[in-house]
Amino acid sequence: MFRKLHEPATQAVTIYIDGAPVAAEAGESVAAVLLRQSPLWSRMTPVTQSPRAPYCMMGVCFECLAQVDGEASVQTCLRQVRDGMRVERQRGKRSLSA
Ligand code: FES
Repeated sequence: MFRKLHEPATQAVTIYIDGAPVAAEAGESVAAVLLRQSPLWSRMTPVTQSPRAPYCMMGVCFECLAQVDGEASVQTCLRQVRDGMRVERQRGKRSLSA
């Protein structure tokens, strides 16, 4: 559904979404990368398990929550990618264990 409007930059990085390697561009947000993936969702709601995807891209809606490098409920629209980053789509409510 979404794609980049320009050719990939020379500063390509690799992040891992649910264990799968994904090419990203230095400086872009994790949410922007998630929006280019299939299936297009970043979290599931705790009650109905409905899939949600990044929406506002500015830290307001909280639809972009995911687990990043072991940290749960990260607003991925506010987190920039870095090489080797591990992102897990968040299923249900976050775990309180560290
Ligand atoms: S997309 Fe709305 S808070 Fe991240």
